[in-house]
Amino acid sequence: MEKKEDQYGGLYAALSAYSRSGCYPYHMPGHKRSGQAGDMARYYDIDITEIDGFDDLHHAEGILRDAMQFANELYGAEETFYLVNGSTCGILSSILAVTERGGELLIARNCHRSVYHAAIMRELTLRYCYPPLLAEYGICDGVPDKDIDRLLEKYPGCPAVVVTSPTYEGVISDIGAIAAVVHAHGKILIVDEAHGAHLGLDDSMPDGALAHGADLVIHSLHKTLPSMTQTALLHVQGERVDRGKLRAYLRMLQTSSPSYVMMASMDSCMRYVKAHGAERFAFMRRQYALFCQKTEACRYIRIGKMTDLSQKEHFLTDWDIAKLVIFVRHPSFDGRKLYDMLRQEYRLQPEMAAGDHVVAIMSIMDEEEGWQRLADALVQIDDRIERESPCAVQPGQTAALQADGRMEGGTPETAKPVAVMGAADAFFSVYTEVPLAEAEGRTTADFVNLYPPGVPILVPGEIIDGGAVAQIKAYLRMGLCVQGVSADGRVAVVS
Ligand SMILES: Cc1ncc(COP(=O)(O)O)c(C=O)c1O
Repeated sequence: MEKKEDQYGGLYAALSAYSRSGCYPYHMPGHKRSGQAGDMARYYDIDITEIDGFDDLHHAEGILRDAMQFANELYGAEETFYLVNGSTCGILSSILAVTERGGELLIARNCHRSVYHAAIMRELTLRYCYPPLLAEYGICDGVPDKDIDRLLEKYPGCPAVVVTSPTYEGVISDIGAIAAVVHAHGKILIVDEAHGAHLGLDDSMPDGALAHGADLVIHSLHKTLPSMTQTALLHVQGERVDRGKLRAYLRMLQTSSPSYVMMASMDSCMRYVKAHGAERFAFMRRQYALFCQKTEACRYIRIGKMTDLSQKEHFLTDWDIAKLVIFVRHPSFDGRKLYDMLRQEYRLQPEMAAGDHVVAIMSIMDEEEGWQRLADALVQIDDRIERESPCAVQPGQTAALQADGRMEGGTPETAKPVAVMGAADAFFSVYTEVPLAEAEGRTTADFVNLYPPGVPILVPGEIIDGGAVAQIKAYLRMGLCVQGVSADGRVAVVS
């Protein structure tokens, strides 16, 4: 009888059959799939290397080509590559493939660190598009296509544009409009859709960037779909990208021994979505609506929603339901306090805490319990705040932390840091570490960012101004994880 876990076929079924075949492994990996190979032994069953019948990711002609083709058809891209080093390596490869050494690149300022890392590797001069503030919530809005148009006019040397959509907070930009502008300038559009691997997989979800014409799209399968950590996809379409170069960078940046466990996980994820996507996405939508209904009456807790946005112009096209951005509006509360309460008192582990909000990531694998427990906890916390320290909250009030014009998940136009050196020059320069309190006016030699989301507050080469110091200190006081500041409170500055 067929084993239950083989029901979707594909790579997992082949690995599982090989494992049961009695064939003795005179090959890597060294655990030899032995049941005696330590505490992790039970995970080694399908962990093999590139033996006959199992293809080679860097030269896929058999079972891995078919698996990538399966993913490709699901997303409707022209070509899809498996990534075993996360979206990070898809972003690095994409940027390296479309830029020249020492050239320029136009990026939305709220891009993930990996975009900046590629720029450093390529010694690029970065040109920024600063997404405006979404006033109701104090987070980054979508990227305005008219700003991209203006900046490409100003910086015609940029061969490509990189935007993140959805953002860590679930804000989906109008990729169709951005693609039209980018292509009208004869440039390439790269969309970091790491957080949106689920988009476009079902009619009930917003379309993804591929459907809107982006040239290169990167998906972290592991973020919002049932797939192992580190698994991701890179899709390419159209004639603008040199695919030979893209493949060359993928060969360079990905391990020469890609994990079959990860690859089987990707294939199994794609097959699961194809088999059960419609029912699971419909369920997710229903649960999301119930969650919103339950939390609607909260006074101090507010869920970021598309429907709450005022009529005035905004640049997001949708708010991803896989991201529950839970804002807390109370003078003696912040994101960290809410995060700690959820963890410690309700045994609920959110994805991250920021200045005035907490982010919970939801997926098609969340059952009713996951949605309900969070909604119930939030309603209870809201009631407790009302009983213990009621106060008047203005609708749309944002936390004090944002009052200086800065915010998590991005730096708006109003708080634009001043760059006095190129990012790569500063990163490769001789540096020294100074206490944060003495850093004002110095030039950063490293990134400083809240993690997650990994969006730089400061990029190497920028002046550390008073606003940045105050923001970083506020995050540290809240106990948030700030990368780029050492345990004893020092930052790297150019000597
Ligand atoms: C917007 C964004 N892009 C890219 C990445 C990198 O993804 P991965 O962890 O799959 O390498 C992250 C990680 O959090 C991210 O938030």
